Amino acid sequence: MSVHYDQPLGFFQSFLDKDYMAYSMAYYGETPEQILRCDYTLEQAQEEKFRLICERAEIRGDEKILNIGCGFGSFEVYLFKHFPDVEVVTITASKTQADYIRSKQQDPDHLFNKANLTLIESDISDIPPEQLGIERYDLVISIAVFEQVNNLDAIFQLMASLLKPAGRVFLHLIVSQPVFPQYFNARETPVGAYFPGGRVWPHGEMLNQQRHLTPELGIYINGMNYWRTIDEWHRRFWAQIEQLHDTLLSVEDIRYWNNYFSVCKVVLFAPQSGQFFGNGHYRYRKQ
Ligand SMILES: C[S@@+](CC[C@H](N)C(=O)[O-])C[C@H]1O[C@@H](n2cnc3c(N)ncnc32)[C@H](O)[C@@H]1O
Repeated sequence: MSVHYDQPLGFFQSFLDKDYMAYSMAYYGETPEQILRCDYTLEQAQEEKFRLICERAEIRGDEKILNIGCGFGSFEVYLFKHFPDVEVVTITASKTQADYIRSKQQDPDHLFNKANLTLIESDISDIPPEQLGIERYDLVISIAVFEQVNNLDAIFQLMASLLKPAGRVFLHLIVSQPVFPQYFNARETPVGAYFPGGRVWPHGEMLNQQRHLTPELGIYINGMNYWRTIDEWHRRFWAQIEQLHDTLLSVEDIRYWNNYFSVCKVVLFAPQSGQFFGNGHYRYRKQ
């Protein structure tokens, strides 16, 4: 958290979309050509990503939902706008993010003020499952977090224990489709350099998670979607660099974040026109 997420709020506000403050891939289209031609703003592309997630997670609007790794509450904003009756328990280990969500819960003009939203500020691995609620949820969802999970079997077991019978899990995360598997080491990717302990799980490994839950859906999303998202973050970051330097970031910080945006674009998502590294959407069911 201290290396990556607990930066000043104003820094994240300088480059993330204005409507959701989503810190995850936005969706512009299926093929590289469609993605590059799409005329969506970042805000519209984030909205489209959340629309797709709700459709693929089969959200009806009456569920009890656990969201692991909520960022600034981006998905919650979309959810409560479109499904006001859902009940959400949401977790982040970041103080910057939790403080932001708490301030919106206090704001009478914000959606979170009257929403059925419980925030837990903690590392997920420090929360006893009983506190989250055994067999309490219709849906456990996690967006752009499993890149930081080291033990897939343990977290699948935990999620299965939290679901009601026939409940479901929906995951959105960066994955790889190695064209030459011998080359690929999930622990040695640029993600690990910027998120300590981070990795990129292969798409096939996510489809094989069937010990605790049954996979129902697995879709690879072309990485040029993330290339274009980060390109827009990078553009907004440089457009405000003087204010950021005056108030929030040192030259070293600017170098770090410029490298982060550049490496993610050029090393992760551009090669093979987004066919090598992209994102995956997965739905699993408790039988
Ligand atoms: C890349 S952000 C994605 C945020 C959000 N889902 C979105 O799409 O805007 C990853 C999130 O996972 C959270 N996270 C990472 N590791 C965590 C852990 N061990 N326990 C709880 N939250 C964690 C971070 O605090 C952050 O909120």
